[in-house]
Amino acid sequence: MSTDRGLTGKTAIVTGASRGIGLAIARDLVTHGVRVCITARRPEALKEAAAGFPESQILAVTGKSDDPAHRREVLDAVAETFGGLDILVNNAGINPVYGPLVDLDLDAARKVFEVNVFGTLAWVQDAVKHPGLSFRDRGGAVVNLSSVTGDTPSPGIGVYGISKAAVSHLTRTLAVELAPQIRVNAVSPAVVKTKFSRALYEGKEDEVTRDYPLGRLGTPEDVAAAVTYLVSPDSAWVTGQILTLDGGLTVAGGTA
Ligand SMILES: NC(=O)c1ccc[n+]([C@@H]2O[C@H](COP(=O)([O-])OP(=O)(O)OC[C@H]3O[C@@H](n4cnc5c(N)ncnc54)[C@H](OP(=O)(O)O)[C@@H]3O)[C@@H](O)[C@H]2O)c1
Repeated sequence: MSTDRGLTGKTAIVTGASRGIGLAIARDLVTHGVRVCITARRPEALKEAAAGFPESQILAVTGKSDDPAHRREVLDAVAETFGGLDILVNNAGINPVYGPLVDLDLDAARKVFEVNVFGTLAWVQDAVKHPGLSFRDRGGAVVNLSSVTGDTPSPGIGVYGISKAAVSHLTRTLAVELAPQIRVNAVSPAVVKTKFSRALYEGKEDEVTRDYPLGRLGTPEDVAAAVTYLVSPDSAWVTGQILTLDGGLTVAGGTA
């Protein structure tokens, strides 16, 4: 059933959406009447995720978000099937390294930047320039996934935080460059309970949660609700903003 927020009939791409935050974002958008294209690297998981949606509202394309050929395939499929693009959610992100920056494998660091930063920028570039999507003319909205680790150092996952700091500033810069037609914002969560963050809370959730004034960690649905706001007409005068979603963690002086 569709709950109208001025989004009915719009079209979206959500990268990295076979599970976790991306899947919750896709679900929330579809609930609001949006047709959504989801992506992920593993075909079985993506197919399974797509099977949970009404067939007329979902497209699923397998591939790596930092692969130019994959981006072209997605954007061509969206142009052909949906006839244009209104919403781009750059959700795919990786964090494959753990340890002090002084020991960081720079090739692994380059990969983190390739996916989290240059991948995000490349999706925006390709969507804006695709002749069949009219992203600019349709008054497009972009939301990027940043992280509170981009604001305050999180030892051990330093390069991830550095990449998310870059995503936040990329968001602000794109917002200025693409206005007034396209709005660009980001959400910046603390720990949200997904496979990605499991190591940060599993077996110690009570202890981790103590730093959160609202008394719990985030859920993918918490993030999805904020993304839906940022792509809807409700936020028509909002661009270049990084919306922190952290249950009060950072205002109370905590770090993720
Ligand atoms: N969870 C948190 O606490 C948290 C906090 C702040 C920010 N974030 C950000 O939120 C985003 C989503 O995180 P999550 O927790 O939902 O992660 P997740 O549970 O690991 O899900 C990641 C999704 O992205 C896909 N994916 C991963 N790498 C990809 C790539 N290179 N190309 C295309 N798809 C890819 C995965 O499927 P495949 O493995 O099949 O590709 C999966 O569908 C990330 O950008 C993350 O940095 C998360």
